[in-house]
Amino acid sequence: MGSNGKFGDRWAQISKAFGLAVEVISAEWGQALDPESFRAQLEADAEKQIKAVIITHSETSTGVLNDLETINRYVKEHGECLIIVDAVTSLGAMDIPIDQWGLDVVASGSQKGYMIPPGLGFVAVGPRAWTAYASAKIPKFYLDLLPYKKSADKKTTPYTPPGESGLCPEASFANDESRGAGTYFCSPHPPDASNPRCDESVGITFVCPG
Ligand SMILES: Cc1ncc(COP(=O)(O)O)c(C=O)c1O
Repeated sequence: MGSNGKFGDRWAQISKAFGLAVEVISAEWGQALDPESFRAQLEADAEKQIKAVIITHSETSTGVLNDLETINRYVKEHGECLIIVDAVTSLGAMDIPIDQWGLDVVASGSQKGYMIPPGLGFVAVGPRAWTAYASAKIPKFYLDLLPYKKSADKKTTPYTPPGESGLCPEASFANDESRGAGTYFCSPHPPDASNPRCDESVGITFVCPG
């Protein structure tokens, strides 16, 4: 579990609430997680006890972007564990090549990068995650993803959906297309002095690196 802010901390709390054995790799708030700490832990796991690495990609509480690409590469080198990504404030705001990187679970919400009202959750689940699902023993009901998948295959939902919210993504995507896909993606990172929005001379002080 990567934790360098409020939302990373919350993932640790949630995981513990579900009875998981959690090992936290932390960084000071305002600093990015060190991918090398993940590499060291994953390499040391000869018995393949680590089942998943959970990363908050963009840690909203501080604005720090974690190096998902590198951490994911180390997860892939481990060979067995999954990577689960909280992309609430990154999906829709920056490019996340989910399939290309082989990210196993990526979760997001309507209210941030997609700029539509809160109320919808999005989750992408890859084949390795479905395989793990088949043997998972964690109790679940409302957020059990299989009924959602089965219903989605029939273009419906297992429980009452927030119908009016369901219309919003289409409008948001249409708006994105009319502006040119990707125009919402972030300005250069780390901040580029040639980009006026990132120029400290306008009186904005960065509170975290990158
Ligand atoms: C990174 C991140 N994870 C999770 C959440 C969800 O938190 P909440 O349900 O309190 O809005 C948010 C905020 O919306 C967030 O920014």
